[in-house]
Amino acid sequence: MKDIFQIIRERYSCRTYSDIPIEEDKRKKLRDFFKENDEGPFKSRMRFKLLEFDNPDSDKAIKFGTYGTIRGAKVFIAGAVEKSQGSINMEDFGFAMEKVILYATSLGLNTCWLGGIFRRSAFAQEMGLNVNEEVLPAATPLGYAAVRKSVIDFVIRRGAKSSSRKPWEQLFFKGGLEIPLSEQDMGNHARLLEAVRLAPSASNKQPWRIIKDDDSFHFYLKRNKTYNSIIKSISLQDIDIGIAMCHFELMAQEMAMTGSWIISEPEVECGDLEYIVSWVSGGK
Ligand SMILES: Cc1cc2nc3c(=O)[nH]c(=O)nc-3n(C[C@H](O)[C@H](O)[C@H](O)COP(=O)(O)O)c2cc1C
Repeated sequence: MKDIFQIIRERYSCRTYSDIPIEEDKRKKLRDFFKENDEGPFKSRMRFKLLEFDNPDSDKAIKFGTYGTIRGAKVFIAGAVEKSQGSINMEDFGFAMEKVILYATSLGLNTCWLGGIFRRSAFAQEMGLNVNEEVLPAATPLGYAAVRKSVIDFVIRRGAKSSSRKPWEQLFFKGGLEIPLSEQDMGNHARLLEAVRLAPSASNKQPWRIIKDDDSFHFYLKRNKTYNSIIKSISLQDIDIGIAMCHFELMAQEMAMTGSWIISEPEVECGDLEYIVSWVSGGK
């Protein structure tokens, strides 16, 4: 993917799709991408599938495409991840699915993360989900945006304040929660965190917080417990952290920074935040 920062800036949640079909070569590129994108940084196995309901005799397009908040979509991508004891499979899934979303964006296609209200069981059936071993955390419609947005599109975007993001000083800190980390502090590497700030999150809650300590970046979750327990076995806010990790890692790669993910809680002041993961520079 070229110029990842630009792609990150271009992506937005599109909920109204046009009739323009997705070209066959783009479908193939996506299927190829799914094959190599089959695990997250912590090795949870996953798979993605194109669900194509746009052949003339499919009546499923109507069922899938007009449900709930999404209008006009006839192609979707669904993702399944193996179950795990803890929630790190959700971070892994968020990471890998966001790569898919950004890859689709780089092909000029529109998407919208769907993790809350969507026909999960119908998607699971189309995926051939193995319910004993897998969960289906999210899906996305795929296609070209319609020129005119539906009313519900406007309502949701306004409700979630989708175009706005929290300022740096509420998200990023140095050494502990007391001292905010500014763009100036990051110098040439400011885009590393700006890419995280621009990431999508469930209901645009932006629950990620990062504390920089020397050359390490510690990722924390400002968890909203009620919100997370809406759907059993799926934690939308852990998926959000995976998305933040994805943006961070893709930017780090573009800036030729090397490092790796580890889970090892540092001794820094983090208030009521929940530690999730750290990116430690060097190695590889
Ligand atoms: C894990 C996750 C789940 C989401 N679930 C839904 C959903 O069920 N329905 C929906 O319309 N938008 C959903 N969204 C989209 C968010 O509302 C959207 O990303 C956020 O408001 C920011 O707007 P933007 O994507 O246009 O930048 C979800 C986003 C994420 C990351």
